[in-house]
Amino acid sequence: MRRIGTLGRVALVLALALPLGAGRLTAPPPAAASDNGLSIRPAMGWSSWSFVRRWPTEAKIKAQADALVSSGLKDKGYIHVNLDDFYQKCDANGFVVDSHGRWTVDETAFPSGIKALADYIHSKGLKFGFYVTPGIAKNAVTRNTPIEGTPYRARDIADTTRQEKNYNCKNMYYIDYGKPGSQEFVNSWARQFADWGVDYLKIDGVGSHDIPDVRAWDRALRATGRPITYALSNNLAIADAPTWRQLANSWRTQGDVECYCGPGPNGSGYPLTDWGHITSRFTSAANWQPYAGPGGWNDLDSLQIGNGDQVGLTSDQRRSHLTLWAMAASPLLLGTDLTALNATDKAMLTNERLIAVNQDGVAARRIVNAGAQQVWSKREANGDHIIALFNTGTSGNQTVSVTWAQAGLSGPAAITDLWSGRSGGTVSDSYSATLRPGETRLIRAAPRSGGTVRHEAENGTWTAGSTVDSNHGGFSGTGFVNTPNATGAYVEWSVESATARDAPVTLRYANGTADGRPMDLSVNGSVVVANRPFNGTGAWTTWADATLTVPLKAGTNTVRVTATTAGGAPNLDFLDRG
Ligand code: GCU
Ligand code: CA
Repeated sequence: MRRIGTLGRVALVLALALPLGAGRLTAPPPAAASDNGLSIRPAMGWSSWSFVRRWPTEAKIKAQADALVSSGLKDKGYIHVNLDDFYQKCDANGFVVDSHGRWTVDETAFPSGIKALADYIHSKGLKFGFYVTPGIAKNAVTRNTPIEGTPYRARDIADTTRQEKNYNCKNMYYIDYGKPGSQEFVNSWARQFADWGVDYLKIDGVGSHDIPDVRAWDRALRATGRPITYALSNNLAIADAPTWRQLANSWRTQGDVECYCGPGPNGSGYPLTDWGHITSRFTSAANWQPYAGPGGWNDLDSLQIGNGDQVGLTSDQRRSHLTLWAMAASPLLLGTDLTALNATDKAMLTNERLIAVNQDGVAARRIVNAGAQQVWSKREANGDHIIALFNTGTSGNQTVSVTWAQAGLSGPAAITDLWSGRSGGTVSDSYSATLRPGETRLIRAAPRSGGTVRHEAENGTWTAGSTVDSNHGGFSGTGFVNTPNATGAYVEWSVESATARDAPVTLRYANGTADGRPMDLSVNGSVVVANRPFNGTGAWTTWADATLTVPLKAGTNTVRVTATTAGGAPNLDFLDRG
């Protein structure tokens, strides 16, 4: 059976405690995540496939690493630099192998070798990712190369009746994991990667028939003792999702996001993708949602943001692209050319509010799916709800709406537009946005705990000599409190709060005089707002609201307003706690 990394297990349990403790809308992810202790949050960085494609070189990879740092993306958390396919050397029979049957590196493209490249990337404070596919190369079998540290050879473990999927040099045979030496072969390859300084390994061309390879690579990576984030690719079967989750840190939920519709060889070059390749991910992300969680993520594929419209998406579509990836808690691996970042896209990628949504460790559920209208929602550990509204159409505006009931929210919520950072005020029970084709709106909805609670003045306590009057109309409840005209006159309420927080309180008052009636506002005996002016409202029947923010502790709070001048308090109708 599999080794259990105790340290990793502890880290994972700690990380799980937050999102799961408060989970209500989002079902907890399956308990058995990869227990290697890695990728507690979705990976962020860059991968060579979309832009560099079939022609990676050490100079190109270094240039992208440099740009990751100089652009400031690294400081926002984009730290992985992943070299994808086509670093290998091939001949007419497939991969050229080393003396132990492992792929060799094309020394024309990588003259300094992979270790030197990894060292360079590490020197920048970044992490190095690498690429492999299942099986053993035909050239290893032909040469019958020895398996490092064992008496076995390639022919002892290869199943030459079956060819593995490989997109590049092909000619990969299945490994028969019933044969002695099979695990040791994969171990020797993983050891080489660990020695080179690999921090992230993508194993591509993986299907359900490759579960023995996926298991062997998981064992092998752990056995190296080096923390190596383990990513599976691509178009994995959802029927085996619990297995992917148990063995790996991420798994591609679909085929490539690239359109292969560029003018270069094999459809390379701009455009890198198109809107159809983004919109097709909404349904798969919805279907895979239950399987994402700390330690294991649904990988929606590379993020095609960085080079403006030429990637094949409008700026509205690019914002929707990042919004969906953030909501789904997908890895954020940029596919674009970071040496040519455009300002609009850089602003998108460095938006910390968006990154926080991606890194909250919660995969959103789709709650509206009606034609071009989509609404996604998730609840974060602190009780905030994140809601994304989309118009996925290509023509015509759409007014997309969601009710708090649909999102699992109760009572009013304070809204923040996460793309702009602007406050949307407090909204009682629903939200809607009119969106251009391809546009999104992403909001954080912070519930006002328990909604607004009204405390009538006539139900509070007050200075001796005050009266509850009803002679000036327009008040709420059965009357208002009229205090004596004296310094120190007060009205006091008991105010509950579920949590310790800064809460808005609204005082309704009337002052029919021309003079101010300033008051102190105290919470639990401490003045938190001093001498707040309550100026004349024009008439005793004209009521005005003053909203102040006050710190409340969890539980019962004593909130008091006290006149600071000889005029006493204005007439007081109520206090609303938001
Ligand atoms: C008037 C008014 C009262 C008010 C008082 C005051 O008497 O009718 O409602 O409280 O003035 O000056 O405080
Ligand atoms: Ca009075």
